[in-house]
Amino acid sequence: MLLVKDMKDLKGKRVIVRVDFNVPQKGGVISDDNRIVAALPTIKELIGKGARVVLMSHLGKVKHKEAPEVVEEQKKKNNMAPVAVRLGELLGQPVKFCPATRGEELKAAVASLKDGEVLLMQNTRYEKGEEKNDPELSKEWASLGDAFVMDAFGSAHRAHASTYGIPEILKGEGKQVAIGYLVEKEVVSLEKVVNVPASGHPYVAILGGFKVSDKIKVIDSLLKKCDKVIIGGAMAYTFAVALGKKVGNSPFEADQVEYAKRMYDTGKILLPVDAVVANDFENPTDIRTIEGDIPEGFQGMDIGPKTREIYAKEISKAKTVFWNGPMGVFERDEFTAGTVAVCKACAELKDAFTVIGGGDSASAAKKLGFKDKFSHVSTGGGASLEMIENDGHLPGIDVIK
Ligand code: 3PG
Repeated sequence: MLLVKDMKDLKGKRVIVRVDFNVPQKGGVISDDNRIVAALPTIKELIGKGARVVLMSHLGKVKHKEAPEVVEEQKKKNNMAPVAVRLGELLGQPVKFCPATRGEELKAAVASLKDGEVLLMQNTRYEKGEEKNDPELSKEWASLGDAFVMDAFGSAHRAHASTYGIPEILKGEGKQVAIGYLVEKEVVSLEKVVNVPASGHPYVAILGGFKVSDKIKVIDSLLKKCDKVIIGGAMAYTFAVALGKKVGNSPFEADQVEYAKRMYDTGKILLPVDAVVANDFENPTDIRTIEGDIPEGFQGMDIGPKTREIYAKEISKAKTVFWNGPMGVFERDEFTAGTVAVCKACAELKDAFTVIGGGDSASAAKKLGFKDKFSHVSTGGGASLEMIENDGHLPGIDVIK
């Protein structure tokens, strides 16, 4: 697979870079610019090679099936313009912004680029054809580039026009298509939790978050690869119901109970033995630690102290850890202890390879001050899970190979 650092003769060439600038923002204020920072090495490499850099990314969701006024509202909400400003500040050079996603205005903006200049196009999802990998759209976008770099790991599980259609066309035309530094680091790191050698065992996966149904494929896959799968978060209540326990008002998925039972019977799953529960999610006035059944009128908010101890002990034996999903409602101070315990146990490991699979767990580790203690924190939640599910394959990376 060609790497951006090995690309040749880029001076004066238009290089399309698919980045993942799907950053949290409200009213033009970006609250977490991690993904922009993570893309800088590739952009700087291309600037250094004298390329004319054309950046493309999606931002949020634009549902084209909705009424036109709803689509317009979604577009306004997911305007990429503030990202260009932030990128310019981080790069230390101006970043041109093109509000058009097709047509003459876009063509002219790309044509106006000088060597070493950077242009960011408006949100790719303004185009209806993006998510459908529409051939006409891919062709038009591909015509804007002499080469392509995939550096959007967080979007590599999407076979869209900007992640799949463009590189497929350019590759077919014999042009250079490569992966960037961010994707290279992700692939190298995640490979270590996809194919784990004997020396990487015990391999412990920690899964949390809301729904079992969102994680079925990854649970199946991790049960084949791991020695233990630790379960926390709201997911744990579906497993508790499967074992005949009462969960009070905790959310659980009735249609996943059978599946959870089957998975539990593999003998590899570790479940909470106690929980921190509250009488109300929004305004809890009664918070308790409960062992066994959760009473009516209460719902689980975090794993309890005994569970924290058991989980920390299991993690302390690991040589490889993959973690996706917080153990409780970590956003609220009263319910961070479970997630902190998991972070701490991972941080204390020596000679182990520890990976956070993006999403909420990455935000939790950052918020709780543990982010630097992990071997790798992925920028892609969905993408890292799919990489494990598909044994290392993602469409947006396979197309480059
Ligand atoms: C993400 O935030 O996980 C990626 O940017 C992908 O976004 P999507 O789920 O909207 O495709």
